Amino acid sequence: MYSTVQPENHVIQLKLTNGIPPSKPSYGIDSPMGLCLSSILAPLYLYASLKGKFDAWDKLLAELPADVFELPALDVGCGRGMVLLKIAKYKGDAVSAGAGKTIYPVYGVDLFIKADQSGNSPKATYNNAASLGLLDQIVLHTADFTQLPFADDTMGLVTASLSIHNVAKESREKAIMEAARVLRPGGLLVVLELSGYANQYCRILKSLGWEKVGFQLAGRQVMFGAWPCQILRATKPTRTMNYCDMAT
Ligand SMILES: C[S@@+](CC[C@H](N)C(=O)[O-])C[C@H]1O[C@@H](n2cnc3c(N)ncnc32)[C@H](O)[C@@H]1O
Repeated sequence: MYSTVQPENHVIQLKLTNGIPPSKPSYGIDSPMGLCLSSILAPLYLYASLKGKFDAWDKLLAELPADVFELPALDVGCGRGMVLLKIAKYKGDAVSAGAGKTIYPVYGVDLFIKADQSGNSPKATYNNAASLGLLDQIVLHTADFTQLPFADDTMGLVTASLSIHNVAKESREKAIMEAARVLRPGGLLVVLELSGYANQYCRILKSLGWEKVGFQLAGRQVMFGAWPCQILRATKPTRTMNYCDMAT
């Protein structure tokens, strides 16, 4: 599963030390600075951050084939776990359905930057998972999405919600290349991103030989102030170029 020494899984460590989790999850605000800058459009921003993006991801995940949730999944820049835990819920339901199949966990990686999401920390994500009874379905690492600790061709699904735009252009390219590298052939990439970035991500994927790549506007429920969002969906082809060659 891992390409490096396995990084610490915060879930295991926090199970030993954490007290009773809160009764309800709480996810904070995306980029509190962005909220201030949105000025009179702050109500739109707050709606997108507290409700709209949750609804958008409910719809996105419901559209995926059910068997994708049996495979290992990865949420890059998971923050306090909004998408991570929606995927974990699908996995928990598959376990409860009890068909005896192996259901692999969903991995969350993040650097837990508080300027990008208020109250961001592994403990906040852990508490959210614990309050929803989903600790057995998640693995949580502190890791940079431009340098994923996972082996090639391991994940059936990689998601990114409002995370990759936070880094510089070259790092965004690395993050998309890394997401593409760790997906298994036939695996799905689903990204919700501020408008304007999906173009760059599409170009990178197409340069890797990916053909099933497309993006669209996300709709009014995810307007971060005046800034709309885009949804990118892509499928890793069964034969791809050599990622090492592409990176050099
Ligand atoms: C706006 S928050 C979104 C969090 C979550 N995906 C959501 O939609 O609720 C962006 C996240 O990207 C993370 N992030 C920023 N740069 C990162 C990097 N280089 N590697 C991993 N995570 C990063 C931040 O710590 C933050 O949690």
